[in-house]
Amino acid sequence: MENNRGSWGSNIGFLLAAIGSAVGLGNIWGFPYKMGKSGGFTFLLVYLFLAIFVGLIIMASELALGRKTRKAPIAAYKAVSSKYSWLGWFAVLSPFLIMTFYSVLGGYCIYYIVINLMGLFKGMPDSGSFGAMLTSIPASIGVLVAFMAICFFIVAGGVSGGIEKFNKIGMPALFIMLLIIIVRALTLPHAVEGLKFMFVPGYAVRETEFGQFVQSTPNLITVLGTAGGQMFFSLSLAMGAMITYGSYLGKEENLVKNSGIIVFADTLVALMAGIAVIPAAVANGIAQGKMVGDIKLNGPGLLFSTLQDVFHNMGTIGGVFGVIFYLLVLIAAISSAISLMEVLAAHFIDKAAEQGKTLSRKKVVMIVSVVITVIGALVAADGLGENGISPASLFKLNVKGWNDCWLDFFDCWSEGIMMPLGAMLMAMMIGGEIGPKTMLDEIHNGEHSPFFSKFYRFCITYVVPAVMCLVLAGQLTDFFGDQVVAYIISAVCFIIFSYHTLIPDWKKLGMSGDE
Ligand code: PHE
Repeated sequence: MENNRGSWGSNIGFLLAAIGSAVGLGNIWGFPYKMGKSGGFTFLLVYLFLAIFVGLIIMASELALGRKTRKAPIAAYKAVSSKYSWLGWFAVLSPFLIMTFYSVLGGYCIYYIVINLMGLFKGMPDSGSFGAMLTSIPASIGVLVAFMAICFFIVAGGVSGGIEKFNKIGMPALFIMLLIIIVRALTLPHAVEGLKFMFVPGYAVRETEFGQFVQSTPNLITVLGTAGGQMFFSLSLAMGAMITYGSYLGKEENLVKNSGIIVFADTLVALMAGIAVIPAAVANGIAQGKMVGDIKLNGPGLLFSTLQDVFHNMGTIGGVFGVIFYLLVLIAAISSAISLMEVLAAHFIDKAAEQGKTLSRKKVVMIVSVVITVIGALVAADGLGENGISPASLFKLNVKGWNDCWLDFFDCWSEGIMMPLGAMLMAMMIGGEIGPKTMLDEIHNGEHSPFFSKFYRFCITYVVPAVMCLVLAGQLTDFFGDQVVAYIISAVCFIIFSYHTLIPDWKKLGMSGDE
């Protein structure tokens, strides 16, 4: 029954695909700025702590859940849990919501590759291209369709014949292109100001001759929330992607080692991306006589406006760097998008297999692609709220967080709410219902590592759910701006968690020691 599910050709193929899923827009436009504004090197330490105590644990759990059940998320949760069987729906709905805007952003990269290529012959485009693209609805939808067509062909090609093949070439290529951009960026005058912003604790708020990057730094709780949210998104956790990729993995592969490699590679690329983009953006801004606080250093503005200005100011050769840069961002976007699409495709393929039917992968992927493209077209036509069809203008809604544009709307529900809740519930399921031992048996597959077992039990029962409450609070504050409400909601979650997991766990500990 499982014979048409597919599997990875090799462990390295799997690793590159999983790293491809992790390395995405989050690494390039999210991590560097968050690191700079939230304490530089100190933020990095907090991030690494969370990546090891929470990210690694959830990564290993998701891979194990997939491999144990050999199923996509909905069926996988059903197979191991009775109380939380519905949790798989989170892991399918979130990738769908993310794809509705990720595909649009991927399309923007294609647009920028084209305009930089043309710039080689007709004069380099500047930051004004961003507004022009956002308000040109046919162009935005056109590149969205092109992006989805590329993803369709890769995912329709199968797990090893499409996804693995793409990542085997794409990931090394991305790494080399990133190195080229780093060398160019660091040789620009005043690039060091960007490096100091990223790495030196407190530099972001220091007054220098070039001004001050940010007015104030966030408190530790906010930093934990920001770092945790960033880490989850960046590692592709709580979105079903790692469950699905794990379901194609051989029993003999070492899940702890694999998880460690994915976490390490993703963090390395995030740091490298920061070293490439922040110094370039800062150096260019300073050369133009701007104060550093006025330079847009994150989100779509960084990618499509600030950096295009950098390439513009390099003259014609800027076109070459522009093409290399947007191509590397495009590869990062594709390798993440195909993992999200695979979650959706695998769900339908598995469901049919359960009923004894065989579905054509091509057909399933086609339907998934078309549905995403149709909703994505709304996000593209909205142009980040530029074209008057945002939720706020259509429905006269006034909810901060998701009314500005459709991208924010979908992002808020998926990354802001479903992701932290999904991860917290998953930890409760493992800690409270199925027990860490079941997961550890799969993670270690027969062998035993006493140290990792102890570490895993401790983290999944106590650290993960507690951190997830903070992440939830951080995300809610980020989106809705109301810290008090965010903390009340998170406190309620923590109480439910304690009632559900901690109290029974303490009782058990008191009675029987280790299980
Ligand atoms: N990890 C990707 C990024 O950093 C996004 C992503 C999230 C991809 C969840 C797959 C699943 O951009």
